[in-house]
Amino acid sequence: METHQGQPSCFIILGASGDLAKKKLLPALFSLYCNKMLPEDFVVIGFARSSMDHKAFRNRIVENLTCRYGENEQDCAEKMDQFLDRCYYHSGQYDSTEDFESLNKKINEQYPDGANRLFYMSIPPSIFVKTAKSVGASGIMTVEEKFWSRVVIEKPFGEDTESSEKLLESLSKIFKEEQTYRIDHYLGKEVIQNLLILRFANRIFEPIWNQEHIQYVSIKFTEDIGVEGRAGYFDQYGIIRDVLQNHLMQILALVAMEQPVKFDAESIADEKVKALRSVPALTLDKVTVGQYAAIEKNGIKYPGYHDDPEVPDDSITDTYAHLQLAINNKRWYGVPFYLSAGKALNDRKTEIFIKFKDVPYSIFHETGKTNTNGLLIRVQPNESIEFQMANKVPGLGMNLEKVKLDMLYHDEFDGVLPEAYERLLLDVMRGDRSLFLQKYELQASWDIVTPILHELQEKNIQPKPYPYGSEGPDHGCPA
Ligand code: BG6
Repeated sequence: METHQGQPSCFIILGASGDLAKKKLLPALFSLYCNKMLPEDFVVIGFARSSMDHKAFRNRIVENLTCRYGENEQDCAEKMDQFLDRCYYHSGQYDSTEDFESLNKKINEQYPDGANRLFYMSIPPSIFVKTAKSVGASGIMTVEEKFWSRVVIEKPFGEDTESSEKLLESLSKIFKEEQTYRIDHYLGKEVIQNLLILRFANRIFEPIWNQEHIQYVSIKFTEDIGVEGRAGYFDQYGIIRDVLQNHLMQILALVAMEQPVKFDAESIADEKVKALRSVPALTLDKVTVGQYAAIEKNGIKYPGYHDDPEVPDDSITDTYAHLQLAINNKRWYGVPFYLSAGKALNDRKTEIFIKFKDVPYSIFHETGKTNTNGLLIRVQPNESIEFQMANKVPGLGMNLEKVKLDMLYHDEFDGVLPEAYERLLLDVMRGDRSLFLQKYELQASWDIVTPILHELQEKNIQPKPYPYGSEGPDHGCPA
């Protein structure tokens, strides 16, 4: 694996004044800096349209920097100052080749002997291709052979199969495949990375990880806030495109795939894509969509989706969706995979639940719970893996009850769990693409949802209303 950790490097963030840059990318770079994971000689360059000097940019960044790894107050303040000293701002238009040329000139002046370049395209989908074209035409990505130049691109990768293919096609004319890192930040989460270890480094699960023993699988994402501040973007996409097609579909692939030949990017992607291609396209009868509605609770008013000024009155955008998927292969035939995601629900969490079938005949059927085996994998918060099983209630009677074998990350492991973006940015620097999306994975997951996305729109299907802060609309499934 290439590291080039010792080489000078420039981290160029396009869309530097956006939320992602402020709240995730710059804090992640700072944490890597605190952990001595950045090269000794590096600069961070924010690029955006607004005009601002370096000082104003630094003042903006500092608001979101935290010393997550336990530095004392003085160390923390010093580290922040040192980090901020290396942060610069360059204002420009995204579709202007000249503006990227002038940035290139500055970088070349600062690094006459060359430097690695990491571009992070944290910009709205509407200007994506235009920006990529100007970046490409400016020559800013051309570096000497001993350095690398890589580009990270963020979802949404299109709106359906066709637009996604078009987007990838346009970008492939500008960036080489091996320098492109398509990010899905869920793949950088600790528990998600652990799925392959759980499945393939433990002998116990593999023999029962199939239709013979598993009743259903549920993958659930809930958030307890609405789309406040992001409605402009969200209304064009909806929760199926925003969360289900990518984050949850990736989890499904990792839960369902066969063991890869090797633990490397290609082999993992090959198996994920096979699993995704075994999922037939969804039909409307397997889908429930919802939209949150205003409610007043204990004197507090919670807004409905339509109360947001950026949401058109007739918007039928899904803020909640429940999908029932099948996987038509030998391992999974007949096992439903329930995927659900929603905004403005009663909790914030992401969980995977593997429900095992009951024993074929229970001699204990009169004594209480026997249908109890389940594996609950809590992705966030309170990361944990919990195995649920039947146990005799201690005492002179014969009663069974469900108990939990619970492994909480915070109890078991010392130290802070890295943020997904820290892991992923580090992987880009190391040239490790195993936690990034390959083209054909994206196509396979778009193929699953594209027909219903079109049908929901063409038939103008009204989402079921659900109160802000509730469990979401009824979907008639066990999970
Ligand atoms: C993003 C979605 O990809 O993931 C957001 O666009 C969502 O709508 C977010 O809130 C959730 O990420 P996390 O890491 O907070 O679970």
